[in-house]
Amino acid sequence: MPKRKVIFVCQQCGYEAHKWMGRCPNCQSWSTMLEESFQEVVPENISRLGEAGDLKQLDQIESLDEERFLTGIKELDRVLGGGAVAGTVILVGGDPGIGKSTLLLQAALGLASRDGRVLYVTGEESPGQVKMRAKRLSSNQVPLMVLAETEYNRIANHITKYNPQVVIVDSIQTIMKGELGNVPGSVVQVREITASLVQLAKNKQIIFFIVGHVTKEGILAGPRLLEHMVDCVLYFEGERYQNFRILRGVKNRFGATNEIGIFTMESSGLQEVQNPSALFLNQRPTSVAGSVVVPIMEGSRPLLVEIQGLATPSYFGGTPRRTSTGLDSNRVAIIIAVLEKRAGMKLYNCDIFINVVGGVRIMEPAADLGVALSIASSLMDKPIQTQIMMVGEIGLTGEVRPVNRMEERLREGAKMGFNRCILPRGNMSRTIISNMKEIEKDLEMIGVSTLAQALNLAFI
Ligand code: TYD
Ligand code: MG
Repeated sequence: MPKRKVIFVCQQCGYEAHKWMGRCPNCQSWSTMLEESFQEVVPENISRLGEAGDLKQLDQIESLDEERFLTGIKELDRVLGGGAVAGTVILVGGDPGIGKSTLLLQAALGLASRDGRVLYVTGEESPGQVKMRAKRLSSNQVPLMVLAETEYNRIANHITKYNPQVVIVDSIQTIMKGELGNVPGSVVQVREITASLVQLAKNKQIIFFIVGHVTKEGILAGPRLLEHMVDCVLYFEGERYQNFRILRGVKNRFGATNEIGIFTMESSGLQEVQNPSALFLNQRPTSVAGSVVVPIMEGSRPLLVEIQGLATPSYFGGTPRRTSTGLDSNRVAIIIAVLEKRAGMKLYNCDIFINVVGGVRIMEPAADLGVALSIASSLMDKPIQTQIMMVGEIGLTGEVRPVNRMEERLREGAKMGFNRCILPRGNMSRTIISNMKEIEKDLEMIGVSTLAQALNLAFI
């Protein structure tokens, strides 16, 4: 008889302790340690890779063919690396109400309409509600199986009987295993069920999409706890009161992780955005100090985004505020220091705020030049020319260093109607930009090698 153990688990970060504590020593959050009891894992259940672990020589192992299933939602398929791979578990996390159920129901309908056997397990809605949603997505004539159930073993029985190729579990926090004896959504439940699903996926070559609500208050265990167990982690983000949504791949064993998919939430469900640059730029103020357009690469695709900077004197003394949204704040601190030292700008007594418009997060240093110029523009109260964009990494000596994939960035800019681009001089060679002549017809390229040169060229 396996032993029952009682432990205290932080519902926020998963930290385990043998005694109760008011504050989690790991993530420092208050009142998140809850008592949980679980049975010690029986050894047979440990192998989660589908077969017993024998020694095998690498060249004698049969390689698995990656069988991929397309959901028909292009943005989702791209973030997955070209469709979902059979036998994998894909976690879709996001705030409640952001559109996870809508996205996955659309994906399920897409898969089912291509003769796939798809099962949609819902622990949150009744079959009638799922039907209503499908109607709203105007495709309720599809052979999709729906199961409203929250007990894991019963769900597993249905899966064995129906033998689906794809299963959607909405959401992991509502499913429970009776024998574990905790409330659904607790750390132990969520982890155990995910582990069982991973095993089921490997054994039967099923694709599982599991929904995980991101929770701030620690009542439910969040998807972060599961990231290491699953094959692919996607986060669905966006401002609740704006209608566009970003699907971001943060882990993918079968594709790149820096891809994003962009959608708008309409009354008939999620629509793919064909031209994301237009979406991010359509509310851009013109001839206003502090606004700069930068062509960044998001995974395999160029995207024009607006960076806004605001530099205002901090009247109350003390340490000035430095806040950045959508950019690494350490990177911004470096750029501020370079502006101060190499371009002679007095920023030490200014509060500085930087924002990437539209909830985009920029990871690459190619946006440095744009950040620097948005701050400079705001400080001097001089607007940047409206049809100019800029790209380049800034070094500590104030030099502007070349960035990769320049041609794609320039083409995207030209497509969106920009007619000038400030770029690193190091990028201005025919070997890097093979069709320079052709691009030059639409877009004037201005090569710079220092930040100071860029500052001389960009303003109206
Ligand atoms: P939902 O998918 O239920 O969110 P989650 O599963 O992440 O909690 O989406 C909830 C919101 O989406 C809800 O406020 C209604 C809105 N919505 C639309 O705007 N259009 C639609 O076609 C659908 C189905 C939902
Ligand atoms: Mg939902």
